[in-house]
Amino acid sequence: MQAQEFAFIRNLVKTNSGIDLTEDKVYLLESRLMPIASKGGHKDLSAFVGSIMRSKPSNLLVQEIVEAMTTNESLFFRDTKPFQYLKDVVLHDFKTRGITRPLSIWCAACSSGQEPYSIAMTMEEQRMGVGSMGASILASDIDQQILKKAEDGIYNQFEVQRGLPMPMLIKHFSQMPEQRWKIKDNIKKMVTFKQHNLLNSARPHGMFDIIFCRNVLIYFDPPTKQKALMYLNEVLNPGGYLFLGSAETVPPALTMLVSHPEHRQLFIKSQ
Ligand SMILES: C[S@@+](CC[C@H](N)C(=O)[O-])C[C@H]1O[C@@H](n2cnc3c(N)ncnc32)[C@H](O)[C@@H]1O
Repeated sequence: MQAQEFAFIRNLVKTNSGIDLTEDKVYLLESRLMPIASKGGHKDLSAFVGSIMRSKPSNLLVQEIVEAMTTNESLFFRDTKPFQYLKDVVLHDFKTRGITRPLSIWCAACSSGQEPYSIAMTMEEQRMGVGSMGASILASDIDQQILKKAEDGIYNQFEVQRGLPMPMLIKHFSQMPEQRWKIKDNIKKMVTFKQHNLLNSARPHGMFDIIFCRNVLIYFDPPTKQKALMYLNEVLNPGGYLFLGSAETVPPALTMLVSHPEHRQLFIKSQ
């Protein structure tokens, strides 16, 4: 791929998703875009990129290119600790504060659904699922294809073996043919899926008590990361909690979000 073709795709993906494809990602770009190029009848990638450089690509094609460049890696109870902190620190704090209304939770960049379902299972185990104090979980991602999988809530044997404790599998999933497992309705009912781009500052759904936004900001450059975090801060209630991924942090300029003394990836919005 020519340097100017790479620069064109890099700019298109960054403008539409924030994902910054550094030059070491040329190989990734080539392997992921080739199926789209072939589907469009182009003999190679240069022909495909040349055609969209000449005439503006449709929104649908842009979405397809962005979806091809997302990394959807996810697993149940990823990194373990955030879910322990959700239970022991965050939910405990809300209970201590005497908050009895349903908690509003946003799982941004939820990928294939393991993360919002892990949150829902944690809430259910704490008797904060449907029918009790309750919680509503909004799960969003830019990638419509992966959201479909998340909404189906069906996982193969390999996927349920990654991070999901056996008792939780037995309790919260039903077994299906071909070694697949489906999340049960009481857990599923707690989660609403919606497409949302973190670059889009339109509010997805009011204000939140807890936001999980993990392992997505690492793909953004520092100004985009800061912009996304400012937006998350805006929709987080004072006294609310933000969970980031293990390689992510809040820049010092965002003084409203204070790191929890015991957990680097947990931030509290000052009251
Ligand atoms: C590596 S996955 C992280 C999934 C989950 N949060 C976890 O930690 O297991 C990153 C997700 O971010 C999504 N993503 C990338 N750019 C996005 C954007 N601008 N807005 C919303 N989601 C985005 C991708 O589609 C992908 O599903």
